[in-house]
Amino acid sequence: MNKAINSPFRYAGGKFYARHLILEHIRPHHTYIEPFAGGGSIFFAKNKAKHNCLNDLDPELTNTYQIIRDSPQDLINTLEGERALKERHAFYKNEFQPSNDLERAQRWYYLNRTSYSGIMNMKNCYWGYGDKFSMRPENWGANILRTSQKLQGVQITNMDFETLIDNITIEQNAFLFVDPPYFNADQDKFYTCSFTKQDHTRLAEVLKRNAHKFQFLITYDNSPEVRELYNWVDTILEKEWNYTINRTDDQKKTQENTESIVKKGERYKGKEIFLMNYEVIKQMPLLELAFENS
Ligand SMILES: C[S@@+](CC[C@H](N)C(=O)[O-])C[C@H]1O[C@@H](n2cnc3c(N)ncnc32)[C@H](O)[C@@H]1O
Repeated sequence: MNKAINSPFRYAGGKFYARHLILEHIRPHHTYIEPFAGGGSIFFAKNKAKHNCLNDLDPELTNTYQIIRDSPQDLINTLEGERALKERHAFYKNEFQPSNDLERAQRWYYLNRTSYSGIMNMKNCYWGYGDKFSMRPENWGANILRTSQKLQGVQITNMDFETLIDNITIEQNAFLFVDPPYFNADQDKFYTCSFTKQDHTRLAEVLKRNAHKFQFLITYDNSPEVRELYNWVDTILEKEWNYTINRTDDQKKTQENTESIVKKGERYKGKEIFLMNYEVIKQMPLLELAFENS
């Protein structure tokens, strides 16, 4: 199966709302690689390449991808009859002790689908399901099956980005979509693996020394430090998009004065830079074109 589908997971820092802006800059390739896959929203939104690789350092996430790819029906069976309830969330979070990879995936999937913003760092993993805006448990089976179809033949790896990137060869004709944790945000709140300033420097270095082997697009928060780390790339574009965050009634109670916004979901603006090691054809704003022609 090759059609565009949504990510199977809710994922903090996921690129779902920016997917069209990113897809338009992806270059032709034989091999598609995401070194920081997370919820994989770009992989799921694009056509599959001949070879595809999703990598992430979080072993619970990559185990869940592997189980969905290889044993979707077993996962569906373990979640059969499950209901989205705060008590079940607390049970999976605090009591359930997985004894094999299937049970690890069962726990991870349940918590991911029912936690606020899909935050899976256990220190910040809170109940965040709402019937109106979350995928209902009766639809989880179909979600797992269509994801499994798209994951057939996809290589799923669990390693640090540096090892992965250093091992890419020119012959693979690869395109990398690189979406690391933000430079200036406390990402340790969201993810189970921490990412230090040194890791950001390490990433810029590994991309620089391998840049002749593949094309890449990396997304980051717009900061002077990032621009300095990547002062050698061919293109930097500033991008903006809108997105909404829905909150459960519990979370809403803590907020005053926001009922009318909250009902529809709160609106935010995403602002990032895209950095590429290739030139893009600039689309000039209409006004600029009109001025040039006059
Ligand atoms: C911003 S998220 C990726 C979001 C993803 N693009 C999406 O659309 O859902 C960053 C990811 O990097 C992973 N990560 C953190 N440190 C890593 C490392 N050293 N190597 C590989 N992955 C890492 C985290 O587990 C997290 O899933």
